Amino acid sequence: MANLGVNIDHVATIRQARGTQYPDAVEAAVLAQLGGADQITVHLREDRRHIVDRDVRLLRSVLQVPLNLEMACTAEMIKIALEVKPDMVTLVPEKREERTTEGGLDVEGQIALLSDAVKTLQAAGIPCSLFIEPEKSAIEATLKTSAQMVEFHTGRYSEVASVEQQKELQRISIACALAHEKGIAPHAGHGLNYRNVSHIARIPHMQDLNIGHSIVARAVLVGLERAVREMKDLIRNA
Ligand code: PXP
Repeated sequence: MANLGVNIDHVATIRQARGTQYPDAVEAAVLAQLGGADQITVHLREDRRHIVDRDVRLLRSVLQVPLNLEMACTAEMIKIALEVKPDMVTLVPEKREERTTEGGLDVEGQIALLSDAVKTLQAAGIPCSLFIEPEKSAIEATLKTSAQMVEFHTGRYSEVASVEQQKELQRISIACALAHEKGIAPHAGHGLNYRNVSHIARIPHMQDLNIGHSIVARAVLVGLERAVREMKDLIRNA
């Protein structure tokens, strides 16, 4: 069964929209833990539009489940990761003007930059994952960086329907099998929700699913603990 990483960025989005102290991302993480989250995922963006440094530092000391820090591959973020020491780092592409992460990393085009970051983090005992498109070329490029994990971008799978979605599912399944064969742990995330998660959760060797927006959106209506538990049940029963 895949682990559920609950991304709580959008709890912080509500807070930052008004510059208030509530809702607290740390309280949300504790409730997500109670609901059965296997991991908490946060994306510390360069513009601090949702998660802020204080959240990451507090989460590090409060959480009983692993903390996955998503971040851009920049000197500033690497410095923070080395100080905070999350249980793992996921390197993601980041553009200031994007509404959310729009695609996987161009690993081949940034081999030196990514390899250096991965090695620096690994030397400090922090395992690394690269957020990539579910493609053979991206997996092969990842191997050159020595990252131990990849997270496949499921954005396209989440946006399309019927035959197109089947094709995308097939693409992710093939990529997952290849990553596993090459000794890289496969994860997936972006755009997964209560209606589309089961097919992805059923893919053999899929290790972690990182899900945020749909869980936080449901939490507004039913509460966070229940929203997490319902997602966890879907993954368990997939
Ligand atoms: N994984 C990565 C690498 C992401 O950038 C995001 C969005 O921050 C997610 C997972 C979660 O995506 P969503 O909020 O659409 O579930």
